[in-house]
Amino acid sequence: MAVSRRQVILLGGVGIMGAGAAGAAAVPWGSVEAKSASKLDDRQMPRPYAAEFTQPPVLKPTSVGTDPDDGARIEHYTVTQRAATARILPRLGTPILGYDGIFPGPTIEVERGTRTTLTVRNQLPATHPAHGHVLATSTHLHGSASLPQYDGYANDVTMTGFKKTYHYPNYQPARTLWYHDHSAHFTALNVYSGLAGQYLIHDPQERDLLPQGEFDVGLTISDAMFARDGALSYDDRSRSGLWGDVILVNGVPWPRMKVKRRIYRFRMLNASISRSLRPYLRSGEPLTIVATDGGLMPEAVTVDNWRHAGAERYEVLIDFSKYKAGTRVELRNRSNENNRDYDHTDKIMAFDVVDDPFDTSDPTWNTLPTVLVPDNDVMGLTSSMAVKKRTMRVKRNDKTNLWTLDDQSWGQIIASGFQDVFAQVGLNTVEEWEFENKSGGWFHPMHIHLIDFKVISRNGRAPFPYEVGPKDTVYVGEGEKVKVLMRFGPHQGRYMIHCHNLPHEDHDMMTQFRVGLKANEDDPWDPIQAARPEFDDD
Ligand code: C2O
Ligand code: CU
Repeated sequence: MAVSRRQVILLGGVGIMGAGAAGAAAVPWGSVEAKSASKLDDRQMPRPYAAEFTQPPVLKPTSVGTDPDDGARIEHYTVTQRAATARILPRLGTPILGYDGIFPGPTIEVERGTRTTLTVRNQLPATHPAHGHVLATSTHLHGSASLPQYDGYANDVTMTGFKKTYHYPNYQPARTLWYHDHSAHFTALNVYSGLAGQYLIHDPQERDLLPQGEFDVGLTISDAMFARDGALSYDDRSRSGLWGDVILVNGVPWPRMKVKRRIYRFRMLNASISRSLRPYLRSGEPLTIVATDGGLMPEAVTVDNWRHAGAERYEVLIDFSKYKAGTRVELRNRSNENNRDYDHTDKIMAFDVVDDPFDTSDPTWNTLPTVLVPDNDVMGLTSSMAVKKRTMRVKRNDKTNLWTLDDQSWGQIIASGFQDVFAQVGLNTVEEWEFENKSGGWFHPMHIHLIDFKVISRNGRAPFPYEVGPKDTVYVGEGEKVKVLMRFGPHQGRYMIHCHNLPHEDHDMMTQFRVGLKANEDDPWDPIQAARPEFDDD
């Protein structure tokens, strides 16, 4: 049985699974349950590598201005949330909810230091067409140090027919962010229905070191299961997780992409609501990881595979110069414990190498950088700077059947009038937090809003080499204890912490912390009151 194999691997040492453990063998590490989760008949079922790779369009600003206070450039963007029909399957249409009606939503690309506003217009049906809940949405820019009222607080919702304008600072180093719905108790269904997209901050450092333009490619990876009629079906197995049998990259099942014989940069976002990945190249060639959630790592790290949970971003270089034209390079998935795997969930996408010319005066074509950003602020944090250490127990409450964080649930935060907090932290102070997974057989990607953290230990040992970079979401595996270090700022106010397995988050693995302000102090950045949605009469 698969369990014993997994146990052997675990006993053999979780610490070595990240490096060098994968060969070309395609034995998945999750459990293979059934042939498929979809109810499509065979002729309707998409096949790996049959569809062409695509990328979402880059969103254009509706206008550009200057901040009267300091002269900074401001770009104004608008997206409209609406119901639409996506072409995911070969013959059948799939109803989705999308930003501008597409999944993934349009990519937003900005230069570091340019401020943005994003007006999100909710023109969704008043209730979800398949699930019936009210489509009151909240948009979170995951990876941005936004003010609390622009952070997509779960109960700061915008109703159908309204719009909200979010302000983003973009002062942080270059990184891959993503925007997605965060509405209280319905994040999983709303994100699964399509409300997610990438957002990129560029800066000179990253431009210098890494491939740009057509060689800088976003991969938003997710899984899905389909009903007979082509609609998305949803089964979160009693709120433990949803495990689709179809892997989508940018909304296309297992696409194939033409690549030139040079190095490419892939911004890999796992946008699955539950599934974690363990990507590797079937050729057995290593991959080079250059950036984590919060941008460039101190040094590039070469891996055979890595563990990649929902919401984590890894920027990965693949060198196609060593392959002859006509070669197919497959990006596969070994999976991880406690995923449910199906016939083709061991595949992600394929690259078909072509001989087309490219500009070899661009040095990134054949340079794998080694040293990246050795002096990153977050990576310079040390335990001795921490003014406080806290532990957060991550588990299921067997009485209430809710997933909890240190026995707190979001329902309890709501019941407290949004006053209860897991932690009251000082502005600009450093703390060390430990996530302790007490939930037995589950993994939990833990996400802290506002800040980037440094992972300092995993089960008392060094973190995996590929997570030695600024992060905001960390894979807390089965029975693991993970320590992170962060400085809280530059904003004050209340921010969420939660598991990014979204059915866990919704039921009810989310709490909050407060920066700077005391419990009953007047809060000018109240996440619900400080910036209200407006009636959308355009
Ligand atoms: Cu990507 Cu609080 O979420
Ligand atoms: Cu969880």
